[in-house]
Amino acid sequence: MLEVTDLSIDLFTARAALRPVDGVSYGVAQGETLAIVGESGSGKTVLNFAPLGLMPTGVVADLHGSIVFDGTQLVGMSERALRKIRGSAIGTIFQDPMSALNPALKIGRQVAEVSEMHLGLSARQAEERALDLLKLVGMSDPASRLQQYPHELSGGLRQRAMIAISIAAEPKLLIADEPTTALDVTVQAQIIALLKDLQRRLHMAVVLITHDMGVVASIASRVAVMYAGRIAEYGPVDRVLIEPQHPYTKGLIAALPSEDDEPGSMFRGLPGAPPILGAPLDGCAFAPRCPLSIDRCTTDRPAFVTRSDGAVVVSCHVVNSRNPKEVIYA
Ligand SMILES: Nc1ncnc2c1ncn2[C@@H]1O[C@H](COP(=O)(O)OP(=O)(O)O)[C@@H](O)[C@H]1O
Ligand SMILES: [Mg+2]
Repeated sequence: MLEVTDLSIDLFTARAALRPVDGVSYGVAQGETLAIVGESGSGKTVLNFAPLGLMPTGVVADLHGSIVFDGTQLVGMSERALRKIRGSAIGTIFQDPMSALNPALKIGRQVAEVSEMHLGLSARQAEERALDLLKLVGMSDPASRLQQYPHELSGGLRQRAMIAISIAAEPKLLIADEPTTALDVTVQAQIIALLKDLQRRLHMAVVLITHDMGVVASIASRVAVMYAGRIAEYGPVDRVLIEPQHPYTKGLIAALPSEDDEPGSMFRGLPGAPPILGAPLDGCAFAPRCPLSIDRCTTDRPAFVTRSDGAVVVSCHVVNSRNPKEVIYA
């Protein structure tokens, strides 16, 4: 459904030029959930939303590489064509539903609008469908929710409304960017359960951006671990979480907080900080923090070659030289 190959993204703002995504490759099959994990600032949001033309105004994104979605190349596509795909074939969910909902429109109208616009339904049909969608996303008392404004709903209900909007046009791919980060823990679990259920019922491909390994384990079949704009490790969730190979992934998993830690403290175990993303780096971006680093790591960039057999791919000179048979090298 989605095949991303050697994608780099340069961002230009009035103040700076940077490359937050640098040579990333992955794929998502129909009906599959891929989790993308990584520290804040590792490029997850830019990777997923710049190609859809969803960057803030004043930011120019320059894409290199290839993104084939359902047979269509997205790199180089016109803004008009992208707009058509967004909200129809590709649904999007953001961390803060308030930023995506229109505060001045009733929930029912906002959900109905998508079906009118993308499925060509009449206002009346779309309203019926909006009611069905609110039921589908598990809203209590859906008929009266249709008549409410976003500010009248709790955070969890707003996120459910956002999800109803994102699936209204029956997307083939749903991209959810930290959809539960802003919610309380119990509501988080409900929203993840909802996404899982919808994914199965609607047979969508899902890309879920998260920094919660618990969420990765519960919903995704594959995971891409990002570090400083690159993928450090990529493969089936049960292998990557249980037997991480890249030193960064190992550090992440070893540093997982216990139940009583503060939320968001999962990266506390790794000394040092990620590099500032300016010009593309020589060598491995993780080398300065890496316990295994050798000379070559600061001069040569480790290869990252995806494999069709679904094996784990690790972008690391040291790991790959130890397991030459495990990983195909460019
Ligand atoms: N609108 C923007 N303007 C300038 N820089 C940005 C913008 N959005 C993201 N960046 C930069 O791109 C990098 C990656 O950001 P982002 O994709 O938001 O990371 P993540 O989603 O993994 O937290 C960061 O260095 C961030 O500062
Ligand atoms: Mg982000």
